[in-house]
Amino acid sequence: MKKIIIAIDGYSSGGKSTFAKAVAAKLGYIFIDTGAMYRAVTLFAMRRGIADDPEALAAALPEVHIAFRFNPATGRSDVYLNGENVETEIRRIDVSGRVSAVSRIPQVREKLVAMQREMGRARGIVMDGRDIGTVVFPDAELKIFMTADAHVRAERRYKELIAKGEEVSLAEIEQNIRDRDRQDETREVGPLRRAGDAVLLDNSYMTVEQQMEWMDEQLKRFE
Ligand code: DC
Repeated sequence: MKKIIIAIDGYSSGGKSTFAKAVAAKLGYIFIDTGAMYRAVTLFAMRRGIADDPEALAAALPEVHIAFRFNPATGRSDVYLNGENVETEIRRIDVSGRVSAVSRIPQVREKLVAMQREMGRARGIVMDGRDIGTVVFPDAELKIFMTADAHVRAERRYKELIAKGEEVSLAEIEQNIRDRDRQDETREVGPLRRAGDAVLLDNSYMTVEQQMEWMDEQLKRFE
């Protein structure tokens, strides 16, 4: 099979990264979680105290260097901000709370989109995000738009957080997911929407194994 670009877009907490990672491992492709890049820029802005100042952040962007490096201990790539591994820190709840505002800044999107295109130049890549099939790689050979019922996504996230010992309510999480869906869909630059040529994967009631079987069917046309 010739190397292709697989673009995966969809809502928050929809299982995109789990699915994208499994697809990349199966094909021997690079996997890029673009949400981690927006989170890393957000962390940079928070540390500088400029997360609420789009102009200052835009001016500081040349000082932001983001890279992915493979971590043999976990078998996945960690994200680095100016040489520091920030994989754990970017998942913090305060970063999650600010990332929507940062990812709305046009200069931030411009910089990250340019980096993402560069990463896909040799193809053989699975990239997940919100605007991959629409903006980053409109020419991707395979575009997938993932959706799942908001209540089902909230229940999954709730179980994950409870298992980590966090005290949260299901209603609070469902509200947060619905809010983020709305913010992602209504953003002016790079909003979340399904590309006309994207195939829909609703994984509300599918296991990862069933999703991989679905993927095998999709890949048949590239054999
Ligand atoms: O996938 P995630 O939840 O880690 O993404 C974090 C945030 O980054 C999310 O609020 C939307 C934003 N994002 C974006 O605007 N464009 C992308 N390609 C990926 C993520």
